[in-house]
Amino acid sequence: MKCLAVFIFFRLLILIFIIEFSFAADSLSSGKFITDGETLVSSFQSFELGFFSPGNSKNRYLGIWYKSSPRTLVWVANRNNPITEKNGVLTFSNNGSLLLLNQEKSAIWSSNSSRMLENPVAQLLDSGNLVLRDNISRSSEEYMWQSFDYPSDTLLPGMKLGWNLKTGFERYLTPWRSADDPTPGEFSLRLDISALPELVIISGSRKETRSGPWNGQQFGGIPRVKNSIFIPKLEHTEDELYFTFRPFNDEVITRLLVNESGTLQRLVWNETSTEWRMLYSWPFDTCDSYAQCGANDNCRISKTPICECLTGFISKSQDDWDSPETRRCVRKPSDCPSGEGFLKLPKMKLPENYWSNKSMNLKECEAECTKNCSCRAYANSDVTGEGSGCLMWFGDLVDLRECSEGYIWGQDFFIRVPASELVSVKHLNTKKRLKIIVAVSIISSTFILGLLLCIAWKKAKNKGNRLF
Ligand SMILES: *[C@@H]1O[C@H](CO)[C@@H](O)[C@H](O)[C@H]1NC(C)=O
Ligand SMILES: *[C@@H]1O[C@H](CO)[C@@H](O)[C@H](O)[C@H]1NC(C)=O
Ligand SMILES: *[C@@H]1O[C@H](CO)[C@@H](O)[C@H](O)[C@H]1NC(C)=O
Ligand SMILES: *[C@@H]1O[C@H](CO)[C@@H](O)[C@H](O)[C@H]1NC(C)=O
Ligand SMILES: *[C@@H]1O[C@H](CO)[C@@H](O)[C@H](O)[C@H]1NC(C)=O
Ligand SMILES: *[C@@H]1O[C@H](CO)[C@@H](O)[C@H](O)[C@H]1NC(C)=O
Ligand SMILES: *[C@@H]1O[C@H](CO)[C@@H](O)[C@H](O)[C@H]1NC(C)=O
Repeated sequence: MKCLAVFIFFRLLILIFIIEFSFAADSLSSGKFITDGETLVSSFQSFELGFFSPGNSKNRYLGIWYKSSPRTLVWVANRNNPITEKNGVLTFSNNGSLLLLNQEKSAIWSSNSSRMLENPVAQLLDSGNLVLRDNISRSSEEYMWQSFDYPSDTLLPGMKLGWNLKTGFERYLTPWRSADDPTPGEFSLRLDISALPELVIISGSRKETRSGPWNGQQFGGIPRVKNSIFIPKLEHTEDELYFTFRPFNDEVITRLLVNESGTLQRLVWNETSTEWRMLYSWPFDTCDSYAQCGANDNCRISKTPICECLTGFISKSQDDWDSPETRRCVRKPSDCPSGEGFLKLPKMKLPENYWSNKSMNLKECEAECTKNCSCRAYANSDVTGEGSGCLMWFGDLVDLRECSEGYIWGQDFFIRVPASELVSVKHLNTKKRLKIIVAVSIISSTFILGLLLCIAWKKAKNKGNRLF
């Protein structure tokens, strides 16, 4: 009997022990701390926060990772300041901001909130967001600081990539330097809002690649697969302009990552194989390198060489193999506007430097572009439904490409060309076509006539030669 009681007592103790330690808390409140080895786990076990060493490194970092997959980091706090020993502590400073201390109790990293917090609470949410709020007024859900505002290399559903237009605060991604080192690498993925919003990958101050403008559904130059995985979104309010996405449904786990080579990857978690599957990556191919081909030069990955002057342009140096720097595609001479028309190029990434008007439709856009002889091309700014909005190009066409089949990307792009280039195009109206046919027949008949005359003259000359 005594033995049984002792046995039950120990079982209970063990049970309490297990319960205590297997249900890690999701929040840290004032006066508490986390040491290396302890973690916070979000309430539905999606994410975990704690100390880790990346790859083969011995350095310690504070980070957030998916709880279920092989440790996949989504955020790192002290990217620039590793802790060398396993003695880091996450706690609160006197003013209520989060503070990461090393062995010497000096601050390695801190969250910066705009005001003093009386009763700070840090909570790891199931979205993967570490938020800091004040627990004084329980109704106040306002975050004084959140990790989503300081992304590392990963964009999770609900995170914003872009701008607070009021304060000028920008959220962007920077890859790790290597698998062993989360220090920000040389690349960054940012939302460029100098014209219509587009994504750019920048290395130092050099533009590596641009996505083409947001076309109402996606960034035109980033390949998309027909999917039930995620829904991309561009949010534009008075205060904010940013890119975000959400999973297609609750079952889907997906993220965007900028890897060490500065490549953007769309990853989806496969529960069966317990692996991250890559849906697509961007830059997609060589044609995505910024201005890979010269001005008015089309990049087509299926062709050799990949650069070819657009219809209506000729290479000034006749050597097609010339590098983009020495090559120049110049306009073929033609009469504007009578001797010109527009050629539709389907599935194109739109070039830079356009003029835009959201309220014009494609017809008005064409009419407006036709009127002005310095207008080189036009396109819809929004491809949703029948399409709407107007973009016009007035100078050289820079950084355009043909988007390959098999993915959803690119859009119709209309370029001004000499009428002679339109002969093979069926979309011309009959009147125009008739005019062109007449013109072409006149040109070719005079050509044949000339040829006949030439042959006759040569024959006569030959006869003459023989005579003498
Ligand atoms: C917030 O404050 C309330 C009451 O003051 C307390 O019961 C609760 O535990 C606090 N929450 C956290 C996460 O500290
Ligand atoms: C927080 O830090 C960011 C960058 O580290 C800085 O731009 C911003 O001004 C800081 N905010 C406050 C309230 O200190
Ligand atoms: C709070 O404390 C941290 C670390 O001591 C400091 O960097 C920060 O400027 C302080 N913030 C405010 C609002 O006082
Ligand atoms: C980055 O992603 C691209 C595309 O998936 C891949 O080819 C490249 O090897 C990756 N780089 C690293 C360092 O993993
Ligand atoms: C997930 O992995 C399993 C096993 O490798 C595979 O059969 C299945 O097609 C994968 N699912 C998706 C959606 O890729
Ligand atoms: C855009 O087009 C509309 C309709 O043609 C016109 O009324 C408006 O002035 C244009 N806006 C700009 C900024 O040119
Ligand atoms: C054509 O467009 C350019 C650029 O917008 C403008 O400077 C020029 O005045 C326009 N010309 C005519 C004839 O409308």
